[in-house]
Amino acid sequence: MTREELIGTNANIMKGVIENVVKYSPRAIIIVVANPMDTLTYLALKASGLPKNRIIGMGGALDSSRFKCYLAKATGANINNVDGMVIGGHGDTTMIPLVSKGNGNGVATVNGVPVSQFASKKKLDEAVANTMVGGATLTKLIGTSAWYAPGAASAMMVEAILNDQKKMVPCSCYLEGEYGQSDICIGVPAIIGRKGIEKIVKIDLSKEEAEKFAASADAVRKTNNVLHEIKAI
Ligand code: LAC
Repeated sequence: MTREELIGTNANIMKGVIENVVKYSPRAIIIVVANPMDTLTYLALKASGLPKNRIIGMGGALDSSRFKCYLAKATGANINNVDGMVIGGHGDTTMIPLVSKGNGNGVATVNGVPVSQFASKKKLDEAVANTMVGGATLTKLIGTSAWYAPGAASAMMVEAILNDQKKMVPCSCYLEGEYGQSDICIGVPAIIGRKGIEKIVKIDLSKEEAEKFAASADAVRKTNNVLHEIKAI
């Protein structure tokens, strides 16, 4: 099966699911857990006609958990003290684990202290690289990555909505100018509460991170184009 055919198959399944969700559960908030994550989130938004706050792609929550796990290993810190986020597309080459932002303050921290105080650049680079191939690594080991972690990440998001937790979660959101992008669903930090995506959080990116984000958006858009080619939207 070619990549286009695979996207087409998943897109058609997603469209059918979305049509039924909207028909039978019109007040639903939809968390998309399917690949290609950002493209299928975009399709869910377009196919459902629901407002953008009610369509959320799960990818960034999972990728950020993996990042925190690798950062804990790199720094030797207790994982509950580690903070870090992954933005951009949910793909091996499109995701962007953030280690530090332009002003030198760490986005990735151990209880607010930049991870660079606890691990060498080499170790942090390894944590980033391992995060980016996290799904592929699991697939090599056990034949699939659709295992506990995506379920745990989705459950965390559902809890944030049900309990109106206003939790900041990196996830695929529809952008209308934020981060210099429009008409695309891609991973950015967002406040998740009773209304779904309640706010997109704008963080300062370094020049390099901003360039990576723009390249990631280009890649996601290319995949989105397949939806037009197969007339899914
Ligand atoms: C992963 C797949 C589900 O990252 O995209 O594990």
